[in-house]
Amino acid sequence: MTTHTFVLNGQQVSADVDDDVRLLWVLRDVLGVTGPKYGCALDVCKACTSHINGKAFNPCSVQVKDIEPTDEITTIEGLPATVGTELHPMQQAWLDNDVAQCGYCQPGQIMAAVALVKLVRSENREITDADLDSLRNICRCGTYSRIRQAVVDGAKNM
Ligand code: FES
Ligand code: FES
Repeated sequence: MTTHTFVLNGQQVSADVDDDVRLLWVLRDVLGVTGPKYGCALDVCKACTSHINGKAFNPCSVQVKDIEPTDEITTIEGLPATVGTELHPMQQAWLDNDVAQCGYCQPGQIMAAVALVKLVRSENREITDADLDSLRNICRCGTYSRIRQAVVDGAKNM
C-alpha cells in the first residue's frame, strides 16, 4: 500500500491504498464520498463524472497513482462551495426543471453540465444544441429532454 494524497472538495485528503486502485473506489469506499456513482467502471456510462482541476473526468477509469498531490478533485458534494452558495446554479436549474427520476445518473449529469458550460464560456460563446449533443452521460430513466433544458437554464446563472 501507498499513501496517496490529493485535494478533494477543497481539502487535502490521503488514502492508504494500492497504486492500481481506481479513484472511484478510493472516493466511495475509502473516503466515503458517494456522490460519484458506480455504473459501468468502464468509462462509458459517466455516472461517476466529477471534475479534476475544473474539467470533467471519470474516476472509475483513473488509477489513484496517476493523481498528483496538487490535483483538485471536485465531486457533486463540493460543487456548491465552488460558487459559495448553498446550491450551485446548475443544481437549482435541475430542481426547477424537476429533472430527476430515480436520480442515479444525476450527480454525473450535473457535473458534466457544469464542465460543459465552463468549456463553452472559455471559448467566449453560448451553449448550442451541438454542445448539448456532446453530453454522453447515460440516463436509464430517459430524462434527456429535461436535462437539456436544465443545462440551458443553469448556464444563464453561471
Ligand atoms: S462508472 Fe464511471 S463511466 Fe461508468
Ligand atoms: S434519473 Fe434514473 S438513470 Fe437517470
